Amino acid sequence: METARASRTAVLVCQGRAVADGRAAVGRFADPVAVRLLEDDERREVALARAADDPADVRERLIVERLRAVAEGMVARTVAIDDAIADAGHRQVVILGAGLDTRPWRLAALRDAVTFAVDHPASQAEARERAADLTPLGRLEFVPVDLSTDDLGPALTRAGHDPAAPTTWVWEGVVPYLTAGDVRATVAALAERSAPGSVAVVQYQTRSWTATAGRRLSGLVMRLTRTPDPLAAEPWRSLWSPTAMARLLAEHGFAVVTDDDLLAIAGRLGSPAAHRRSLTNGRVAVARHR
Ligand SMILES: C[S@@+](CC[C@H](N)C(=O)[O-])C[C@H]1O[C@@H](n2cnc3c(N)ncnc32)[C@H](O)[C@@H]1O
Repeated sequence: METARASRTAVLVCQGRAVADGRAAVGRFADPVAVRLLEDDERREVALARAADDPADVRERLIVERLRAVAEGMVARTVAIDDAIADAGHRQVVILGAGLDTRPWRLAALRDAVTFAVDHPASQAEARERAADLTPLGRLEFVPVDLSTDDLGPALTRAGHDPAAPTTWVWEGVVPYLTAGDVRATVAALAERSAPGSVAVVQYQTRSWTATAGRRLSGLVMRLTRTPDPLAAEPWRSLWSPTAMARLLAEHGFAVVTDDDLLAIAGRLGSPAAHRRSLTNGRVAVARHR
């Protein structure tokens, strides 16, 4: 990620949740807060994606198609992660690369917890502005950290995180944007602060030739049509097989309990799954520290 600029993919996934709210897996998925974190032009795109008819303008159509695809993945990963947080029931939750994650303002399981929202300083400054009018359900601490250059541990200590109490770590939609070395260093840093029973919830992408080609092609089409592309400045830097992710977590004392792809989760939820290939490449692993 460019260091001076807030994440555009954070906006994109927030828009995806706003598109899906009240439309997909109703009763299991709801994110009424997502739309409140968006700016007017971003909200307008959400409205276009929720409309029954496709827009006539080619650029708007590209934006709408991407938003609808993103929305499918957001439903599955949001429910899987919400459930894992509630099941763990810990009083400390650290969201790594929080972006415009709405959980502090909407997830009942966080009511009695302290949530540490860790993010790149540029993204975090923007998220704080967008959320200025919202009241978190529990205690919320913002922790600006660039996971590529800063030490996570001391920043969490300063924010009041207690390594002696179990923590639920949420790492959603961030791993692909970090190098493998930064992912390893982050797992080592969070493991050092994980009391027995701590849980790591890791959402990551697997390697897929077709997904990479599809991503490049859609980037090219957006460039050629001069459509703003939120993915352009945030390339994927590391993709992991379930075996490699389980091995990395095990090296740091975490045993994987479940690791499902988003297509399987969407199937269980009965939520839309038209973009099967992209859903298959996204996974949510839940691992428990010994
Ligand atoms: C796709 S967004 C996901 C946001 C949020 N977790 C969600 O799922 O809605 C990617 C997030 O990773 C964060 N990120 C990327 N590189 C980072 C880094 N080096 N240090 C900290 N955060 C980073 C961005 O700031 C952004 O918030």
